[in-house]
Amino acid sequence: MTDALLTLEQVTKSFPGKDGTMTQILHPTTLTIARGERIAIVGPSGSGKSTLLSLLGTLDMPTSGMLRYDGDDVTAMNERQRSDLRAARIGFVFQQFHLIASVSALENVMVGLQYTNLPRAERHDRAAAALEQVGLGHRFLHRPSQLSGGEQQRVAIARALVKRPDIIFADEPTGALDTDTGRTILDLLFDAADGGASLVVVTHDPNVAARFPRRLHIRDGVVREMTGQPATDSHQPDEAERLPLTGTTEQTAMTRKDDDHA
Ligand SMILES: Nc1ncnc2c1ncn2[C@@H]1O[C@H](COP(=O)(O)OP(=O)(O)O)[C@@H](O)[C@H]1O
Ligand SMILES: [Mg+2]
Repeated sequence: MTDALLTLEQVTKSFPGKDGTMTQILHPTTLTIARGERIAIVGPSGSGKSTLLSLLGTLDMPTSGMLRYDGDDVTAMNERQRSDLRAARIGFVFQQFHLIASVSALENVMVGLQYTNLPRAERHDRAAAALEQVGLGHRFLHRPSQLSGGEQQRVAIARALVKRPDIIFADEPTGALDTDTGRTILDLLFDAADGGASLVVVTHDPNVAARFPRRLHIRDGVVREMTGQPATDSHQPDEAERLPLTGTTEQTAMTRKDDDHA
């Protein structure tokens, strides 16, 4: 038995389409996320990655099926109970950082602790330590607009890790950054999870996905475990090599294989 943190049993999600009829965006999905597990979610644009992440992170509720967090039935919780759960135990990092423009890096990180009963001095000290941890010890009083994209994402990671969450969800965390900065951000996310947190990262970058021991692939709302190594800049699997390529780059191989990068 793994030490399960999150379990989905036959979870689905449907949204109303233009004509008002419901479309099933996530087909019945059963999976378990263990404590400390690192998982990448990959798949073409529009395949349901963010939808799945919202359900896992309790930001949205399944249309049917059961979601358990640490044994508790999330589908039986009300909005307030779910928001308390997220505030106390779940960290989020998004592609567009979602920082408060009018306050300092330090205040932004303290937001991660605003639902705790910790005294302000303690929140201050913990936020400062989190900023040190992501290498921003010299940027406490800068506002987001005074920071680079990579630095803003570091603040967002500090805000997620300061609460010492059970799990960190990141939706395309490197999507708005150049390759080198993105690599550093991923290193920081792994470091942030080193204390025992689970880490779930949505990405369409095969080089990012290759760093995860477990990868889930979504296509048209169907989730599958991926086996073998994805095509990366340094490694190309046999499957991709067998494709009748007109281009020669791995990028082309992935596009042909997965319709990715859409
Ligand atoms: N709130 C919503 N209402 C209606 N359709 C939605 C909603 N959220 C997502 N969808 C649809 O669900 C599909 C999957 O979206 P999403 O999970 O954002 O994909 P991805 O993150 O893989 O690009 C898309 O077709 C999208 O238009
Ligand atoms: Mg998305």
